[in-house]
Amino acid sequence: MELSPRLLALREEAKKGRDPTCPDDTLAYLLALCAREAPRRILEIGTAEGLTACAMLGVCGAEYTGIERDPARAATARSRFEEFGVFRRISLFEGDAGEILPLLEGEYDLIFLDGPKVQYLKYLPDCKRLLRRGGALLSDDVLLFGWVRGEAPKKRRMLAEHLREYLRALELDPALETEVLEIGEGLAVSRKII
Ligand SMILES: C[S@@+](CC[C@H](N)C(=O)[O-])C[C@H]1O[C@@H](n2cnc3c(N)ncnc32)[C@H](O)[C@@H]1O
Repeated sequence: MELSPRLLALREEAKKGRDPTCPDDTLAYLLALCAREAPRRILEIGTAEGLTACAMLGVCGAEYTGIERDPARAATARSRFEEFGVFRRISLFEGDAGEILPLLEGEYDLIFLDGPKVQYLKYLPDCKRLLRRGGALLSDDVLLFGWVRGEAPKKRRMLAEHLREYLRALELDPALETEVLEIGEGLAVSRKII
């Protein structure tokens, strides 16, 4: 799936930041899924500058809901949505996902969880509530530099433990069928089966 030169350039810039946009192979997976399954509603937790949103909306006709806590990033995302002509399909909530998620309603076909990793477990009940049966929850960075399945540096042990707990919760959940893909920093793909 070809991205426009402008979007590619913005992605390269965004990869240099502290909280980068998703890696190329993760985006390729997301775009293939969007093209194949034509989701009608997408939710992204951690919109950042809206680059992954613009790419996904470029390959399917979905309506998009995003949550982003950082006001400067949310403002940039809004200008990207204008620039890429997708703003009419966007609802962007600026604030803490922990407060906004419980207020969302309706069902989503695809949820891309890419916000604060230590909160993934806390967000899971709302993600499950908001995901339609058959829909996919994609949780990014679940293996983080090999720290989750191996040894984490001392400062990162808590984070790695949070992600281990999150993966255990996904794998033990009878309503979800989960596969962890070794792309990017690890992408958990969970299907809601009941
Ligand atoms: C890895 S970046 C997301 C990248 C984006 N999904 C993409 O692919 O371009 C994580 C984002 O989550 C946002 N974030 C962090 N904590 C948050 C919270 N509690 N609620 C909402 N957004 C949060 C950060 O500001 C950051 O922009």
